[in-house]
Amino acid sequence: MKTLVIGTGGREHALALALSRDPSVTEVHAAPGNPGIGAFATLHTVDVMDPAAVAALATSVAADLVVIGPEAPLVAGVADAVRAAGVAVFGPSAAAAQLEGSKAFSKEVMAAAGVPTAGSRTCTTAAEAAAALDEFGAPYVVKDDALAAGKGVVVTTDRAEALAHAATCDRVVIEEFLDGPEVSLFAVCDGTGAYALQPAQDFKRIFDGGRGPNTGGMGSYSPLPWASADLAEIVIASVVQPTLDEMVRRGAPFVGCLYVGLALTETGPRVIEFNARFGDPDIQPVLAVLTSPVGELLAAAAEGEITRVERPTFSEGASVTVVLASAGYPESSSKGDVITGVEAADALDDVDVIHAGTAVDADGRLVTAGGRVLAVRASGADVADARAKAYAAADLISFDGLQRRADIASEPLGVIEGASLKESDH
Ligand code: AMP
Ligand code: GLY
Repeated sequence: MKTLVIGTGGREHALALALSRDPSVTEVHAAPGNPGIGAFATLHTVDVMDPAAVAALATSVAADLVVIGPEAPLVAGVADAVRAAGVAVFGPSAAAAQLEGSKAFSKEVMAAAGVPTAGSRTCTTAAEAAAALDEFGAPYVVKDDALAAGKGVVVTTDRAEALAHAATCDRVVIEEFLDGPEVSLFAVCDGTGAYALQPAQDFKRIFDGGRGPNTGGMGSYSPLPWASADLAEIVIASVVQPTLDEMVRRGAPFVGCLYVGLALTETGPRVIEFNARFGDPDIQPVLAVLTSPVGELLAAAAEGEITRVERPTFSEGASVTVVLASAGYPESSSKGDVITGVEAADALDDVDVIHAGTAVDADGRLVTAGGRVLAVRASGADVADARAKAYAAADLISFDGLQRRADIASEPLGVIEGASLKESDH
């Protein structure tokens, strides 16, 4: 099977690497990819937001399976164009990607499907927003309805800050605050059914102890030894299957990864958000412990026949990913800082250095080229062992202004914050 991965970050590197380790995968192509992916796959230049260009590339490399990493091309209809060209694609249509593309749409689908989530109001005026804030009370959760590259959500106890964020949005979703540890659950969906991958947890804040601004994710681990063994099964039954059924009813079946961001509240798991793609870095440790072939799984889902493959299986061990970010992240990022130590770290047993924002400069040196630069992923017998290996490998890598958290997977997210069990509290 020839595969083509669309995107450029750590998620795409981890997916391409997992595909390259599947014996049924004969070729891995990526576009645009990154220098890390280029070490083992063929890279192509493409505008990922141009549906016709991606479809033409898929045809020209004779891809049997296209995997689209990020949300923006999905919302722009890239999967539709690839599918129309007769190539199997893992990633939802533009219509189905609205589960991520519009918070108001996803809340509407959840309500229709009876999925447990936070109560919410969709508002278009300042007066409606103020009334919704007072209805739910503090802490306030204010979400831009549109895709905002991770910057659309404000959680605050400051009513003025909540109102100010609402005023910057055309349409805003204001919702009830959900208290409890957050979990990322990835459901591989074929339009009518799904298999869950093993749950993971993502550390979102920039500083240790869950302090500082939100980022795209500073580290992750899987499995979650403290979570109940039937969590994935419960979420498939109470969230994923009803959502897939509702999307079928609406004529927009969901094929791809339904990323369920959950809060484990006192009344059970409730949905914080849906995304229409794998989470990054949350998917990275999950792929490291996945023991069944990922290419066959994604191809079966893309072709609407997920049950032709067995349920995914996972090793007894654990994996931990530590993100190395550049100076200024998350407000800004630094480009062109020379990176050293990647080869030495990558050569360690059970370690993969995943590229997220790197480039090769005119002198052939690996340099920073984004906010999240690298993710150091290690596997081990348990979380503590994987964590020790990940940090030992990360210690070998340096560049000016490197930022990383020291407490990834040291405790379940939430326990390190003390009283509250989550990172979103201010
Ligand atoms: P999102 O972009 O929807 O993932 O939101 C970013 C972060 O805001 C989440 O990971 C949570 O930590 C927090 N958050 C979003 N919605 C809620 C909610 N209803 N209750 C508590 N925290 C939330
Ligand atoms: N790590 C969170 C996300 O991918 O949205």
